Amino acid sequence: MGSIDSLWIPTIAVSHIVGVLMWLYAVTRLAGPKSKRKAQQQSQGGPDEQPAAKHPSPYQNGHGDRAVELSQAIHEELDFDPETAVPVVGGTSPLPVELSWTLISYKVLQGKPGKGKKSKVKQILHPCTGRFRAGEAAALMGPSGAGKSTMMDILTGRKPSEGTGGTVRVNGHVLTPVIAGKYLSYVGQEDVFLPNLTAWESLNFYSWLSVPAALNRADRQAGMHKTLETMGLQEVKHSMVGGSMPGGVLVRGLSGGEKRRLSVACGLIGNPSLVFLDEPTTGLDSHAALSMVRHIVSLTRLGHTIACSIHQPRQEIFNAFDKVVILSEGHQVYIDPPGGCCQWFNGGLGYAYRPEEDGTVADWVITLVSIRFRDEDTAHNSR
Ligand SMILES: Nc1ncnc2c1ncn2[C@@H]1O[C@H](COP(=O)(O)OP(=O)(O)OP(=O)(O)O)[C@@H](O)[C@H]1O
Ligand SMILES: [Mg+2]
Repeated sequence: MGSIDSLWIPTIAVSHIVGVLMWLYAVTRLAGPKSKRKAQQQSQGGPDEQPAAKHPSPYQNGHGDRAVELSQAIHEELDFDPETAVPVVGGTSPLPVELSWTLISYKVLQGKPGKGKKSKVKQILHPCTGRFRAGEAAALMGPSGAGKSTMMDILTGRKPSEGTGGTVRVNGHVLTPVIAGKYLSYVGQEDVFLPNLTAWESLNFYSWLSVPAALNRADRQAGMHKTLETMGLQEVKHSMVGGSMPGGVLVRGLSGGEKRRLSVACGLIGNPSLVFLDEPTTGLDSHAALSMVRHIVSLTRLGHTIACSIHQPRQEIFNAFDKVVILSEGHQVYIDPPGGCCQWFNGGLGYAYRPEEDGTVADWVITLVSIRFRDEDTAHNSR
């Protein structure tokens, strides 16, 4: 008996020690990611980080509160829960949706930390605040590298959370993948089609991907006809998309502008409330670009909220939008109707607009944010 007792006592003691160690391990595992996240947030600037204003903007440094207030007000106006509401499909107007953002920012760490050396932080988008109202057509403009695609990625929930600050809301509800999937459509810069399918067949393929299977054939086709008509493609619906096939065979088909409009049609077929388009006019001649923008803006009459990035717009394109967001080196320097732009840069910031020398307001503003903000002397010499 004595020998059995002498075996039991150490066994129980060891199992107690193992239990305590396992408990300690579990506690540190649970606490670890949280404290690590906190440390990371501190080093990268969390959502509460204050904006560093390089260029003054009506929505930075204190003005952000105004947009938050407005967002809350509109949420009461358009009061439905985007997580539980059922999107409208089959040819009727989508649910009205407003998108707002509060102090969104994006930064990346560059270079590996070494002995006594820290990674360098590159601020790609500085904290900014604003909103797109329901049924509004907005354009993100600015020179190459200004941060347009980065901003669009954050607004559509496509950026990883690491390095991303601030909050995006849909009708006052924080944007989640469920909300993005139900209400938001993103049309990228590339047209992805099979060259030997017709415009109708291509749209049909996308409709099976984005329209609920429960919708009957007649309603599905009514939605397709309406979308083709909206984008001015009824005449070419039986034409092949065209392009290069494997083996180098070239199939003649839609023009560049028609192909781009078909891409937008495919993004619209699920009747999304919010449509984001990355550079829908790039690669088009000025007439096709204007026609594309007119089609895009006409979507707001159907109840869609539209946001797109645009490169070097001509004046008619600039004026066609309800709101322009102008970015310069990752700063949101202006967000308001295009008509107020001249007054803001001229009267508000003291950059004089001279019509004879500066050309159109659109040209002047884009040149201003491309060159003059960066280097006044360079701008002077380039004249
Ligand atoms: N992950 C990253 N790491 C390092 N730099 C990045 C990263 N993502 C973006 N950048 C840089 O941030 C800047 C903004 O990029 P972004 O693609 O948003 O610009 P853009 O305005 O869309 O330009 P473009 O008109 O040429 O498409 C660029 O200088 C780009 O090189
Ligand atoms: Mg881009």
